[in-house]
Formats: sequence, structure tokens, C-alpha cells
Amino acid sequence: MDFPKNFVWGVATSAFQIEGAPEVDGKGLSIWDTFCQRAGVIADGSNGDVACDHYRRWESDLDLIASLGVDAYRFSVSWPRVRPGGSGSWNSKGLDFYERLVDGMLQRGLKPYLTLNHWDLPEELQANGGWAHRDTVHRFVEYAVGIGARMGDRVATITTHNEPWVMAMLGYESGIFAPGIKDRAQASQASHHLLLSHGLALQALRAQGCRSPLGIVLNLAPVQPATDSAEDVAQARLEDGRLLRWYVDPLFGKGYPQDVLDHLGADAPRIEAGDMEAIAAPLDYLGVNYYSRSVASAAGPWDVKQGGREITEMGWEVYPEGLTELLLRLHRDYPLPPVYITENGGAFPDPLTDGVVHDADRTRYLAQHIDAVGAALAQGVPMAGYMVWSLLDNFEWASGYVKRFGIVHVDYDTQRRTLKDSAHWYRGFLKRQRASHVVPTPTGPQTALAGA
Ligand code: FCB
Repeated sequence: MDFPKNFVWGVATSAFQIEGAPEVDGKGLSIWDTFCQRAGVIADGSNGDVACDHYRRWESDLDLIASLGVDAYRFSVSWPRVRPGGSGSWNSKGLDFYERLVDGMLQRGLKPYLTLNHWDLPEELQANGGWAHRDTVHRFVEYAVGIGARMGDRVATITTHNEPWVMAMLGYESGIFAPGIKDRAQASQASHHLLLSHGLALQALRAQGCRSPLGIVLNLAPVQPATDSAEDVAQARLEDGRLLRWYVDPLFGKGYPQDVLDHLGADAPRIEAGDMEAIAAPLDYLGVNYYSRSVASAAGPWDVKQGGREITEMGWEVYPEGLTELLLRLHRDYPLPPVYITENGGAFPDPLTDGVVHDADRTRYLAQHIDAVGAALAQGVPMAGYMVWSLLDNFEWASGYVKRFGIVHVDYDTQRRTLKDSAHWYRGFLKRQRASHVVPTPTGPQTALAGA
């Protein structure tokens, strides 16, 4: 399938997962720095102290990205690197780092897709209750405006939050991610504050005159019942409510879904006058992270083996048609702005042997999901771009360094980067896309329009 000429192709990372340098040049600690110190929470007992050493290697990493022939690089700013305690004074060395990074992208012809919050909340704000405390909302808006003032004129987009569901549910309800709290009332309050801070940040950035398009990134999936039984169908509806409608409904002005509010009962969030209007601030784009479908069973967790599909190292089913299904459903139920797939990819057990990584499984995964995006586009969904998760093997949160999502292999002993076969494939695919935008001229040779 040929995608439109202006369709944006990219690769994605996040600050905590690649940068390292947790206390260099005035950076403050984030909740992930402290969470990693707890015994037993990270599969390999690791942390983000070195990660991909990107804080020092950013220039060669940008060269690497440019060499892939992508249009865009999605990255995140570490809040505690630029404003260490989450409030008070700013850290000019941290701000300079991201300014150099953005300028380095522009010099290489890469569009900077900036995310403000990819989970690394300043530790001091957590001491004050973190996302469960309303004060954090206002600190986030200040942070957004500070970044907007420094970089809003040069970045392609500004995303407020990456995956509020993950931060709220895994951070505050199941507690398997930082800050490791297990309290459903705090989780629902945190989800409300994340959404509220998103809406207020959009308003403040626009009031500031920020020219960059503004949006949010959600992790979404179609939720299917395991069987046709009334119990499983009801369970799927509830899980769809908690994962998708809880976030997408209020962003499009519909308020929180009543069935989920009823389900939460006394754990439902406290909402103040004007909150829901703020959350519904118009989106310039919506980012969707997609990895797999979700299957709901009233009897307890569904065994992924029952799907009969290939299963990734994360234990996630390879289910590309779920992406088309999800996008069509969003298009049917909501007045969508341009939509980006801001993350998609897979962890596979692909060893580096004699300098090469033959990750045919990852290449297949990416090709099938790009086809699924093409199918949605062909049916009228306003798709604007696609970004691979991830550029590099990196710190995969509670899985540590054991799971590798990169299209570029990282040797953590030497920090050597090696393009996997999937990176070579992606580069070739993008080249072919560009070539398909070549039109014949009446006088002779073909003219490349895409500026490859
Ligand atoms: C998403 C995260 C990203 C990465 C992938 C595998 O939930 O946004 O940082 O961990 O999963």
C-alpha cells in the first residue's frame, strides 16, 4: 500500500529508558530512579543509571536516526532534568540539552515530536502525593509552559502525557510500575489529574501563543470477550470502559462513562467545577500506542495461548487486525483529529551473532501493523503517521533490560549500536514509499517529489 506523501514515519524513545545520567548536570531524581531501588520490582534488578547512555551519545544517535531515512523522531523531555524538584528553579543545563537535541534534529531534517511526560515524575512531587494530588496538575502546567516557551517554536508537536492509563493503573492501582502504590481511589484520582493537567496545559500553551500542534498519547486496544457468554461480554464492556472510554470520552467532551463511574463507586475521582470543560480542550492530534488486542474473561485472566497466535517476549499476542479494528471504532465513535500511531513494535528474542541480528519476527510484526494502518486509512480514518517502538533496545521498565524492543541492537557493555534486519527493512520500506511518490514528467525522466 502506498501512503500519502505527507504521512509521517518515525521512530520513538523516551527519556528515562535511554538517557542514563540520572544526577548529571543538575538533574533531580524521578520516581523511576527511586522505584528501581526497591527490591524485586525490576525483573533483572537493574535501573536507568546508564541505560543507552544517550545523554552523552545524543549526537551519534541522531545521526543513526537520520540514517534510517525517517521523517520524525518521537522523544520525551525528563521533567526532573529541566526542573529538578518539579517546582521552583529551572535547570539551565537540562534545558540546554533538549534545545541542542531539538536543533540537532532540525539540522538533520528530522521533525521533533516532543512528549512532556513519559512517566518520570520528579520525586519531590511524589513525596507530595504525585498524580493523586491536585497540586501536581498545576506544577505540570508550569512545566509545559516552560518547555513551550523554550522549544514550542521549533518542535513538530507537543504531547502532554504518554499513556495516562499506564501511569494511573500500573502506578497507583496494581503498583507494578512507579510509584508502586496499590490504591484504586488514588488511581482514579491520578487518572483525573492527568487528564485535567493535559487540558489545562493545552489551554496555557495556546494562551502563550505556542504554534506547535498539541495532543496526547493513549495506549488503546480493542477489548474482545473471551466467549459469547453474558458475563464475558459484560467484562469486556467494563474493561473497554476503563481502558478506552474513560480517556477518550472526556477528551471529546462526553464526560466520564457512567458505567465506569458506577463500577468505581466511592473510588470515583473528585471532580471540581470546570474540570471536564478543561479536559475537552480541542486536540490538534491524537496519538495511539498499539501493541496487541485485549481479551476479557469474567473467570479471571485469559490465557493468551488460547488465541493460537504468535506471542512476543512480553507475552503479548501478535494481533495486527486489532489495530484496524481499533482505529475504525475510534473513527466511528469520535470526531477524530489527525491520528498518529505513536508506538508500535515487539520484543523478540533476537541474538546478535557475528554482528547481525536476524529479527524476521520483528520485521513481520512491523510490516503487518503498517498494513493494518493502511487498511484503516483506506477506510477513511484520518491517519497522519506511524512511529516504531523503539529506535533502540532500552530499559523496558519493570522488565529491565531483558526485553528488547529496538530495531537497533544495543550492547550494554560497550554501548555499541547495531542495526537489526528490521531497521534495514524499515529503511528500505521508506525508500520504496518515497519512490512511489515519483511522478512521470512529460519531458522525460521521473522527478522525485518526496525529497528523500
Ligand atoms: C509502552 C510505553 C513504552 C514502552 C512500550 C513497550 O507502554 O509507552 O515506554 O515501554 O510500552
